Amino acid sequence: MTRLDLINKRLRKVGNMVNQTDPIPVKGFFQVGIDLGTANIVLIVVDETGEPLAAFMEWAEVVRDGIVLDYWGATQIVKKLQSKAEQRIGRKIEQAITSFPPGTDPMISENVIKNVGLKVQHVIDEPSSVIKLLNIDSGMVVDIGGGTTGIAMIRDGSIRKAYDEPTGGRHVTLTLSGNQKISFDEAEKRKTGPDAAQYKPVVEPVFQKMADIIRQQIDGQTDLDIYLSGGACCFPGFDEVLRREIARHRVIKPFNPLYLTPLAIASYGGV
Ligand SMILES: Nc1ncnc2c1ncn2[C@@H]1O[C@H](COP(=O)(O)OP(=O)(O)OP(=O)(O)O)[C@@H](O)[C@H]1O
Ligand SMILES: [Mg+2]
Repeated sequence: MTRLDLINKRLRKVGNMVNQTDPIPVKGFFQVGIDLGTANIVLIVVDETGEPLAAFMEWAEVVRDGIVLDYWGATQIVKKLQSKAEQRIGRKIEQAITSFPPGTDPMISENVIKNVGLKVQHVIDEPSSVIKLLNIDSGMVVDIGGGTTGIAMIRDGSIRKAYDEPTGGRHVTLTLSGNQKISFDEAEKRKTGPDAAQYKPVVEPVFQKMADIIRQQIDGQTDLDIYLSGGACCFPGFDEVLRREIARHRVIKPFNPLYLTPLAIASYGGV
């Protein structure tokens, strides 16, 4: 089994267990990651081998352009997710790993975690955590979330570049809402619903903008493996648009990109 196969298996597991409260008492080592995203706050617990034990996610509008604006709101959500996870695993959570979009201040996330009363075990930039989880030696991770596109590049084992730009799934939703003359919430529902593919022509210009951002960061390099992360990459056919726009590079879409970054944060440090 390749590393990507293993991670895909874990992502499938996270997808099945997300917001599942049924208790699975944990006896041994566990590690917790908290992803404070512009769209979702996600808490994942993994065991010593990196297998997911618990996953809780809440839609949150406490972060804008990668920066936490509503500390109180963020703290309340993290507290709630923490308490659900504690009930599920039957253990008290005392510390967590958290993250920040490249180019922003890591203290912002750290402060939220500390506010909740947790110790900050590590704070890592989001696309770099994905590079570590996938164990990539050379390539690029593109994390397109709700509000931001984060990019990190690795060459021969060393991370060369981390970059962040405020374009994400939110812009896809805004475009759909404008085009269909529907509310943001209704557009969000349709974009993530079973008939989303029909809106591809409407939202494709946003995907092209994302491809432009990626192309700029590729900066003439050849033969890169580009790994996708983040919920915005879940849109049906998004990866095909990228493959067409960024020819000559391999675009790899994991099983469910929505959970890849939070899983990578939770797994940080070698599991
Ligand atoms: N199935 C889907 N199809 C299309 N878009 C999706 C799907 N599922 C989630 N999304 C979009 O993904 C975005 C949320 O992704 P994610 O949870 O990775 O973002 P985030 O980490 O909260 O934000 P950021 O990384 O920008 O701070 C939202 O815009 C949401 O609409
Ligand atoms: Mg994110």
